[in-house]
Amino acid sequence: MLDMPAIRQDLNALYDLAPNPELAASMGAEYARMSRVVSPVDWAIHAPYVAAINTLKKQRNATILAHNYMTPEIFHGIADVVGDSLQLAIEATRTKADVIVQCGVHFMAETSKILNPAKMVLMPDMGAGCSLADSITAEGVAQMRARYPGAPVVTYVNTTAEVKAASDICCTSSNAVQIIRALDADTIIMTPDKYLAQNVAAQVPEKRIVWWDGSCIVHEQYTARDIREFRDWNPGTRIIAHPECPPDVVAEADFSGSTSGILEYVSRERPERAMLVTECSMASNISDAHPEVEFIGPCNMCPYMKMITLEKVLWSLHTMTTAVEVDPAVADKARLAVQRMIDLSAKKA
Ligand code: 13P
Ligand code: SF4
Repeated sequence: MLDMPAIRQDLNALYDLAPNPELAASMGAEYARMSRVVSPVDWAIHAPYVAAINTLKKQRNATILAHNYMTPEIFHGIADVVGDSLQLAIEATRTKADVIVQCGVHFMAETSKILNPAKMVLMPDMGAGCSLADSITAEGVAQMRARYPGAPVVTYVNTTAEVKAASDICCTSSNAVQIIRALDADTIIMTPDKYLAQNVAAQVPEKRIVWWDGSCIVHEQYTARDIREFRDWNPGTRIIAHPECPPDVVAEADFSGSTSGILEYVSRERPERAMLVTECSMASNISDAHPEVEFIGPCNMCPYMKMITLEKVLWSLHTMTTAVEVDPAVADKARLAVQRMIDLSAKKA
């Protein structure tokens, strides 16, 4: 575990990190992308970290890949690439940088390392896990294969490298339906997210989909009743749910899609009011680009995603820790499953 008081002391001795309204005012371009959701007082606190990270990033020839669930100061202040799980994996194959700093959770950093074995991939906090990745091991995949002989295994990217290595192909929430449709099999095993599997099964009724009993602690909290009550309380609000939500929640929504799918839907439809049934930072990060949309309603915080902070990113780049390592034999097998997914998604496009 990171010793934050000691890290804070060291960072303050090395960098000028005191709140700085003048510096903040000089960084207006960055602030303009988050001014609806980050107050000027908070920006004065973040700006010295953002400036230090952006300078260090150039010195280290590092690129920062940030998931859509990062906080606005990370998403708009320091990221070179932002996106959903699929977009980040694809960008990881394209980067020319020597170092990748993954602002997201551990499985995302592992995916970047699997795709870039020669590059250094840094995780600002190795404790940033995922309930889905924790729910299954390679042994679980073997059990499913034994129960459904001959059925291919489609594994969500929210898994460890070992689980990917034991699978036939990966998927994300933005390409799961296409991947299931493309497979030449009547019965398909999906791991580890039962809700994603059930939501996909509803769209591909011609195939029999069997699933592992995993779920996301953020999305499983929503209920269909919550959504109905919210609609009654605020009629006319467009309700947009991530496919990690239970199927009855997705059925109550106006649209369901991955985090990039949610952004595309909002950009295309420009609803007057929207409720994003997903992690809290999603609405914050797209709010300034869509001032015409009022984002309302409850959201749930992912405790793992929120472990990544500006302070930890600065420490990570300063010390070049902690590098993510994947056993080369495991990485070789996992790469096949991830690359098959990327190739199939590109064909679809
Ligand atoms: P996407 O960004 O691929 O939709 O995934 C959401 C998620 O929960 C990542 O952990
Ligand atoms: Fe995992 Fe859910 Fe957090 Fe995504 S939001 S990292 S799926 S726990």
